[in-house]
Amino acid sequence: MICNLSRREPDGFAGSPLRVHVSVDFAARGAVAPAARAVVEALEPVRPGPVLIIHNAGFGDYGAFPASGWETQRRLLDVNVVSVLELTAHWKPLLEKRGGAVILVASTAAWQPTPWLATYGASKTFLLNWGLALREEWREAGLGVTVLCPGPTETAFFTVAGMDQKPSGVGMHSADLVAQRGLEGWARGRAVVVPGALNQVMAAISCRLPRSCQGRIAGIILKRFRKPPSNRKSS
Ligand SMILES: NC(=O)c1ccc[n+]([C@@H]2O[C@H](COP(=O)([O-])OP(=O)(O)OC[C@H]3O[C@@H](n4cnc5c(N)ncnc54)[C@H](OP(=O)(O)O)[C@@H]3O)[C@@H](O)[C@H]2O)c1
Repeated sequence: MICNLSRREPDGFAGSPLRVHVSVDFAARGAVAPAARAVVEALEPVRPGPVLIIHNAGFGDYGAFPASGWETQRRLLDVNVVSVLELTAHWKPLLEKRGGAVILVASTAAWQPTPWLATYGASKTFLLNWGLALREEWREAGLGVTVLCPGPTETAFFTVAGMDQKPSGVGMHSADLVAQRGLEGWARGRAVVVPGALNQVMAAISCRLPRSCQGRIAGIILKRFRKPPSNRKSS
């Protein structure tokens, strides 16, 4: 059974009793707990077996802080961080009962400060460190945690974040490839998965530089993606 939690049902998702969509806005007050309970109830009739939780929902908000405004920044933290913690707290007993693992979708943005995407990058750094901490706490119980850190990926991310252009070239991956690499890495018990050789090299270099230097270089790269706030799609 696959349970999807997001505001909109994914295309082609309906039509099978083994696919359940729970409509939820992770930034809405009090919305996460009922959605978490709906998943537990949906799984009750399914025979015992391991559960794989993939925390994928997230968005960026491009611009000098507070970018498109405090309300969007708060929503970003609710979606990218708070809902991940709340869902994991609700589903921990399910994991302990059935066994399983968690994949956290962070980003290569997690490896350094990201000027112009300051709150987004910090939210992904939070997920990276939190996920690796959880992995150790859960080691004895045999529950896995894998942090997936994609680089630029062909999705609606850049439009939603209000960026004027997408990064281009060899560093851009398809969402299918990123998902495949994430699942392969989880199956091999990897702690961190960075899809793509270029992203792996960039992450390795970035985390060896002094922190102030990391932010300076990332700022020069990210400053190029400006777009007027009026052209943005909200998330
Ligand atoms: N694309 C990239 O270059 C890239 C790189 C590194 C990491 N990532 C990460 O990959 C993950 C997926 O993003 P994407 O690239 O696939 O972008 P996307 O196409 O914009 O997808 C974002 C996903 O998050 C869900 N979501 C957003 N706001 C939500 C809310 N308030 N409540 C519930 N669900 C919400 C969306 O579903 P609904 O709109 O239906 O709610 C959608 O499924 C994110 O965590 C992102 O940070 C992306």
